[in-house]
Amino acid sequence: MTEEEIREIIKSELSERRYRHVLGVVKEAERLALIHGADPEKARLAALLHDCTKEDTIESQLKMCSECGIMVDNDTLACPQVLHALSGAVRAKRDFSVPDDVAEAIRTHATGGPSMTKLQLLLYVADLTEPGRDFADGLKDLRRLSEVSLEAAAAEEARMTLERESARGRTIHPDTRKTYEYYKKTLSEMRKRNDAE
Ligand SMILES: [Fe+2]
Ligand SMILES: [Fe+2]
Repeated sequence: MTEEEIREIIKSELSERRYRHVLGVVKEAERLALIHGADPEKARLAALLHDCTKEDTIESQLKMCSECGIMVDNDTLACPQVLHALSGAVRAKRDFSVPDDVAEAIRTHATGGPSMTKLQLLLYVADLTEPGRDFADGLKDLRRLSEVSLEAAAAEEARMTLERESARGRTIHPDTRKTYEYYKKTLSEMRKRNDAE
Protein backbone atom coordinates (compact mmCIF):
# COMPACT_ATOMS: atom_id res chain seq x y z
CA MET A 1 0.00 0.00 0.00
CA THR A 2 1.35 3.45 -0.84
CA GLU A 3 1.49 6.30 1.65
CA GLU A 4 -1.18 8.06 -0.39
CA GLU A 5 -3.54 5.06 -0.13
CA ILE A 6 -3.00 4.84 3.63
CA ARG A 7 -3.66 8.56 3.88
CA GLU A 8 -7.01 8.15 2.10
CA ILE A 9 -8.08 5.35 4.45
CA ILE A 10 -7.12 7.33 7.56
CA LYS A 11 -8.90 10.40 6.20
CA SER A 12 -12.09 8.44 5.58
CA GLU A 13 -12.09 6.98 9.10
CA LEU A 14 -11.16 9.87 11.36
CA SER A 15 -13.06 12.99 12.30
CA GLU A 16 -11.94 16.13 10.51
CA ARG A 17 -10.36 17.52 13.67
CA ARG A 18 -8.35 14.37 14.37
CA TYR A 19 -7.27 14.04 10.75
CA ARG A 20 -5.97 17.61 10.82
CA HIS A 21 -3.96 16.72 13.95
CA VAL A 22 -2.57 13.63 12.20
CA LEU A 23 -1.43 15.70 9.21
CA GLY A 24 0.23 18.12 11.64
CA VAL A 25 2.09 15.25 13.29
CA VAL A 26 3.16 13.90 9.88
CA LYS A 27 4.67 17.29 9.04
CA GLU A 28 6.33 17.71 12.43
CA ALA A 29 7.67 14.13 12.55
CA GLU A 30 9.24 14.57 9.12
CA ARG A 31 10.78 17.88 10.16
CA LEU A 32 12.30 16.32 13.31
CA ALA A 33 13.53 13.30 11.33
CA LEU A 34 15.39 15.59 8.94
CA ILE A 35 16.91 17.60 11.81
CA HIS A 36 18.04 14.53 13.76
CA GLY A 37 19.03 12.18 10.95
CA ALA A 38 16.17 9.68 11.19
CA ASP A 39 14.32 8.11 8.24
CA PRO A 40 11.74 10.72 7.13
CA GLU A 41 9.62 8.14 5.31
CA LYS A 42 9.25 5.98 8.40
CA ALA A 43 8.60 9.07 10.49
CA ARG A 44 5.74 10.06 8.15
CA LEU A 45 4.28 6.55 8.13
CA ALA A 46 4.37 6.23 11.93
CA ALA A 47 2.79 9.66 12.29
CA LEU A 48 0.09 8.91 9.73
CA LEU A 49 -1.00 5.80 11.62
CA HIS A 50 -0.29 6.85 15.22
CA ASP A 51 -3.92 7.65 16.12
CA CYS A 52 -5.58 5.15 13.74
CA THR A 53 -7.62 3.54 16.55
CA LYS A 54 -8.06 6.63 18.74
CA GLU A 55 -11.70 7.07 17.79
CA ASP A 56 -12.57 3.39 18.23
CA THR A 57 -14.33 2.27 21.40
CA ILE A 58 -12.26 0.78 24.20
CA GLU A 59 -14.15 -2.49 23.68
CA SER A 60 -13.28 -2.75 20.02
CA GLN A 61 -9.62 -1.86 20.73
CA LEU A 62 -9.45 -4.58 23.37
CA LYS A 63 -11.12 -7.05 21.04
CA MET A 64 -8.62 -6.36 18.27
CA CYS A 65 -5.67 -6.76 20.65
CA SER A 66 -6.99 -10.07 21.89
CA GLU A 67 -7.72 -11.33 18.35
CA CYS A 68 -4.10 -10.56 17.49
CA GLY A 69 -2.88 -12.33 20.62
CA ILE A 70 -1.69 -9.14 22.31
CA MET A 71 -2.12 -8.98 26.08
CA VAL A 72 -3.14 -5.62 27.51
CA ASP A 73 -1.47 -5.19 30.89
CA ASN A 74 -3.19 -3.74 33.97
CA ASP A 75 -1.27 -0.45 33.81
CA THR A 76 -2.69 0.21 30.34
CA LEU A 77 -6.18 -0.94 31.33
CA ALA A 78 -6.06 1.61 34.14
CA CYS A 79 -5.27 4.41 31.63
CA PRO A 80 -7.78 4.02 28.79
CA GLN A 81 -6.49 7.25 27.19
CA VAL A 82 -3.24 5.49 26.22
CA LEU A 83 -4.73 2.19 25.02
CA HIS A 84 -4.99 3.53 21.46
CA ALA A 85 -1.18 3.59 21.23
CA LEU A 86 -1.00 -0.17 21.77
CA SER A 87 -4.06 -0.97 19.65
CA GLY A 88 -2.84 1.45 16.97
CA ALA A 89 0.47 -0.43 16.77
CA VAL A 90 -1.38 -3.74 16.54
CA ARG A 91 -3.59 -2.45 13.74
CA ALA A 92 -0.70 -0.79 11.88
CA LYS A 93 0.96 -4.22 11.69
CA ARG A 94 -2.19 -6.17 10.91
CA ASP A 95 -3.79 -3.88 8.32
CA PHE A 96 -0.87 -1.89 6.93
CA SER A 97 2.07 -4.30 7.41
CA VAL A 98 4.35 -1.60 8.79
CA PRO A 99 7.91 -2.54 9.79
CA ASP A 100 8.51 -3.37 13.48
CA ASP A 101 10.29 -0.11 14.29
CA VAL A 102 7.34 1.90 12.97
CA ALA A 103 4.90 -0.20 15.06
CA GLU A 104 7.13 0.33 18.11
CA ALA A 105 7.04 4.10 17.63
CA ILE A 106 3.24 3.99 17.47
CA ARG A 107 3.09 1.78 20.58
CA THR A 108 5.06 4.26 22.69
CA HIS A 109 3.72 7.53 21.28
CA ALA A 110 1.39 8.27 24.18
CA THR A 111 3.58 7.34 27.15
CA GLY A 112 7.12 7.27 25.87
CA GLY A 113 9.39 4.79 27.60
CA PRO A 114 13.05 4.38 28.55
CA SER A 115 15.77 3.97 25.90
CA MET A 116 13.65 4.91 22.92
CA THR A 117 14.95 4.87 19.35
CA LYS A 118 15.10 8.15 17.42
CA LEU A 119 11.89 7.21 15.63
CA GLN A 120 10.10 6.55 18.92
CA LEU A 121 11.39 9.78 20.42
CA LEU A 122 10.43 11.95 17.51
CA LEU A 123 6.88 10.58 17.28
CA TYR A 124 6.40 11.01 21.03
CA VAL A 125 7.51 14.63 20.75
CA ALA A 126 5.84 15.48 17.41
CA ASP A 127 2.46 14.40 18.77
CA LEU A 128 2.67 17.39 21.07
CA THR A 129 4.66 19.91 19.03
CA GLU A 130 2.69 19.57 15.79
CA PRO A 131 1.76 23.00 14.36
CA GLY A 132 -1.98 22.67 15.10
CA ARG A 133 -1.49 22.60 18.89
CA ASP A 134 -2.12 25.61 21.06
CA PHE A 135 1.32 26.99 21.78
CA ALA A 136 0.27 29.10 24.73
CA ASP A 137 1.14 26.51 27.36
CA GLY A 138 4.87 25.88 27.32
CA LEU A 139 4.93 24.20 23.94
CA LYS A 140 7.16 26.85 22.38
CA ASP A 141 9.91 25.87 24.77
CA LEU A 142 9.32 22.19 24.03
CA ARG A 143 9.51 22.84 20.31
CA ARG A 144 12.80 24.71 20.69
CA LEU A 145 14.18 21.89 22.84
CA SER A 146 13.12 19.27 20.28
CA GLU A 147 15.27 20.91 17.63
CA VAL A 148 18.36 20.57 19.83
CA SER A 149 17.76 17.30 21.67
CA LEU A 150 14.93 14.79 21.30
CA GLU A 151 15.95 13.23 24.64
CA ALA A 152 15.66 16.52 26.52
CA ALA A 153 12.34 17.24 24.79
CA ALA A 154 11.03 13.79 25.80
CA ALA A 155 11.93 14.50 29.45
CA GLU A 156 10.21 17.87 29.32
CA GLU A 157 7.14 16.40 27.63
CA ALA A 158 6.91 13.63 30.25
CA ARG A 159 7.29 16.23 33.01
CA MET A 160 4.47 18.31 31.49
CA THR A 161 2.26 15.22 31.17
CA LEU A 162 2.88 14.20 34.80
CA GLU A 163 1.95 17.71 35.92
CA ARG A 164 -1.16 17.93 33.73
CA GLU A 165 -2.51 14.45 34.43
CA SER A 166 -2.05 14.71 38.19
CA ALA A 167 -3.80 18.10 38.16
CA ARG A 168 -6.70 16.37 36.38
CA GLY A 169 -6.62 13.57 38.96
CA ARG A 170 -6.06 10.96 36.26
CA THR A 171 -4.13 7.73 36.67
CA ILE A 172 -0.67 8.15 35.18
CA HIS A 173 0.80 5.32 33.17
CA PRO A 174 4.10 4.20 34.78
CA ASP A 175 5.91 4.56 31.44
CA THR A 176 5.40 8.33 31.55
CA ARG A 177 7.27 8.46 34.86
CA LYS A 178 9.93 6.09 33.50
CA THR A 179 10.41 8.40 30.51
CA TYR A 180 10.95 11.37 32.78
CA GLU A 181 13.36 9.47 35.04
CA TYR A 182 15.33 8.09 32.12
CA TYR A 183 15.76 11.35 30.21
CA LYS A 184 15.74 14.03 32.92
CA LYS A 185 19.55 14.05 33.25
CA THR A 186 19.89 15.13 29.60
CA LEU A 187 17.33 17.85 30.19
CA SER A 188 18.99 19.25 33.30
CA GLU A 189 22.44 19.16 31.69
CA MET A 190 21.09 21.07 28.71
CA ARG A 191 19.40 23.65 30.90
CA LYS A 192 22.62 24.11 32.92
CA ARG A 193 24.57 24.62 29.72
CA ASN A 194 22.04 27.18 28.48
CA ASP A 195 22.15 29.06 31.79
CA ALA A 196 25.95 29.18 31.65
CA GLU A 197 25.91 30.72 28.17
FE1 LIG B 1 -2.36 9.44 20.35
FE1 LIG C 1 -1.94 12.16 18.36
